[in-house]
Amino acid sequence: MHSFPGGGTAVKLRAGKKNHRPGEERRVRVESPTPDVADVDMEDVDGLHPDDRTEGHSLTVPAGYRLRRGSFNHLREIIYTMSGIHLKDAKQQMVQSRLTKRLRILGLSSFEQYIAYLGEHPEELTDMINRITTNKTYFFREPRHFSFLEEHALPDCIGRPTSVGERRVINGWCAAASTGEEPYSIAMVVAEFLSRYPSWSARILASDLDTAVLAKGIRGEYPEVALQDIPRRYSGPYTQRNQFRRDGVVSFSDPIREMVHFRQINLMAERYPIRTQLDFIFCRNVFIYFTRQDRDRVVHRMVDLLRPGGYLFLGHSEVLDIDMFRGRLRFLANTTYQKAGG
Ligand SMILES: C[S@@+](CC[C@H](N)C(=O)[O-])C[C@H]1O[C@@H](n2cnc3c(N)ncnc32)[C@H](O)[C@@H]1O
Repeated sequence: MHSFPGGGTAVKLRAGKKNHRPGEERRVRVESPTPDVADVDMEDVDGLHPDDRTEGHSLTVPAGYRLRRGSFNHLREIIYTMSGIHLKDAKQQMVQSRLTKRLRILGLSSFEQYIAYLGEHPEELTDMINRITTNKTYFFREPRHFSFLEEHALPDCIGRPTSVGERRVINGWCAAASTGEEPYSIAMVVAEFLSRYPSWSARILASDLDTAVLAKGIRGEYPEVALQDIPRRYSGPYTQRNQFRRDGVVSFSDPIREMVHFRQINLMAERYPIRTQLDFIFCRNVFIYFTRQDRDRVVHRMVDLLRPGGYLFLGHSEVLDIDMFRGRLRFLANTTYQKAGG
């Protein structure tokens, strides 16, 4: 039994053929994801993973590394249970591509051996999930949400009455934050806005399931070319070049870095480790990998965490069926929602 850091469902694994002894069936059947998934293909949205380019569609994949349907089904059940990522049949090649390099590193000669290895080394699940997630992101992606934040959501936050002595803090959560470009974009907008309100401060929680992307976000260093995505009014005051490095690395000024706090959170967990009421949540371009039912369950949990009148921003293709949230959420515009009661 492996309990996944950041919450989530534990999963039991069956020893693979090589190590399987009679009577040693340790696998629990996980409920199959329903076929009712958002109609967006992940590669349409996110492009190819680096491993897909190097290994994918190669005719030279050694026979042992060919992922057979039975092993694919086994792996995708595990992946779904761990992460909520629902892999359609068409993703068999992608899974083979993304995991083949790992099999080589581990010196394994088949996916069946890899499944057995997972059973014996549950910590390997983290590496597998890190390879399966698609992490494409960039600064100020879907810029209308950032304009909305600046022009409506933030003025609304500071316009709310506070009692005497109450700390004036804006609390935001960027869920599925990938390598950090999204939470740092939010932080720049918030910092610029709050420069006119010195008695206010802000905390942005940035979370993801993938530990590798979280490490990059915490490092907070990006290639200079990424500056192209950041409007000059933000890049000027809030980014800095590392003068000791020649390869053009940019990072963020201290007020931005201090505002953003990274943490592993699995959106499939029953409860999120957040105690503060949130003013807004960005959760964009992850629900395209989930079933509708899982997406709606996650959104309900997020609404619980928002303060009345708080805002929820989803990815551009992640439109909710608002009837499922009647009395809880109202649609504002462009995949932007507001919690009722504000
Ligand atoms: C395509 S990226 C989106 C990044 C960013 N939100 C954006 O819109 O640019 C999707 C992210 O969701 C994360 N993810 C996938 N399943 C998750 C889960 N169950 N819990 C938390 N994050 C998850 C992946 O690791 C990946 O970094």
